[in-house]
Amino acid sequence: MRVRISNSYFDMSSAAAKLIASQLRNKPDSVLGLATGSTPLGTYRELARMHKEEGLDFSLVRTFNLDEYYGIGPDHPQSYHYFMNENLIKHVNIDPRNVHLPDGLAKNIEESCRRYEDSIKERGGIDVQLLGIGRDGHIAFNEPGSSLGSRTRLKTLIQETVSDNARFFKTLDEVPRFAITMGVGTILEARHIILLASGGEKADAVKLAIEGPVTTEITASALQLHPKVTAFLDVAAADKLKRKDYYKYVEEMRQKFGQADV
Ligand code: F6R
Repeated sequence: MRVRISNSYFDMSSAAAKLIASQLRNKPDSVLGLATGSTPLGTYRELARMHKEEGLDFSLVRTFNLDEYYGIGPDHPQSYHYFMNENLIKHVNIDPRNVHLPDGLAKNIEESCRRYEDSIKERGGIDVQLLGIGRDGHIAFNEPGSSLGSRTRLKTLIQETVSDNARFFKTLDEVPRFAITMGVGTILEARHIILLASGGEKADAVKLAIEGPVTTEITASALQLHPKVTAFLDVAAADKLKRKDYYKYVEEMRQKFGQADV
């Protein structure tokens, strides 16, 4: 895993956006796996800026989001459909038909999840998957205990996640208790995974995910099994990493020898 530590949230977001932009320039019809939440907002803002000011083209891009709350529709202001539209889709030239999220209102959940997985495969698989991390070490909504081979399915959210998400809803009762989420196994099939983490409240989860044992207790630790992961962290999120000085040294050396963007 490549660990890139930035001095600020802004620098972290710009570095991640730069990597995604270079993916799109190399392969304009890339398939992107996208995340919601607070962490990727800076990356999305930067991608939107690059589209506007530098002509970064999204016309052939296909996107698949990690997850969607179960029980709320795409027009609900807290749905992930709504979030993606507000924070990325409407700011770039992506064809709305190429934007995919799990169906939060699916009647036949199993069938809908199977179709979601099939459509990722039909489009050639995910080239770059963007991930945030929960304080409990989850990726997507793969809560502690989720199988590391899991596929897209309905998940019951743990209390900690429900209360973390409550900040977006008027009352705790309104917070969805279920989500449809890609599985850890689905995520691990992406060709390149970008993990984003910012802020001191993520430092424990980041440490366990990157340097701890691979365990279903911290589903992000499964990323250690993937051949190509880049973790973009700000200093606060990286604070508890044992080898943080080494990771910084690696980046300095890559810079020095012209390998920084590889
Ligand atoms: C969102 C998702 C979640 C978040 C995680 C961190 O699509 O899959 O795993 O990435 O809960 O959320 P933030 O970024 O709000 O701290």
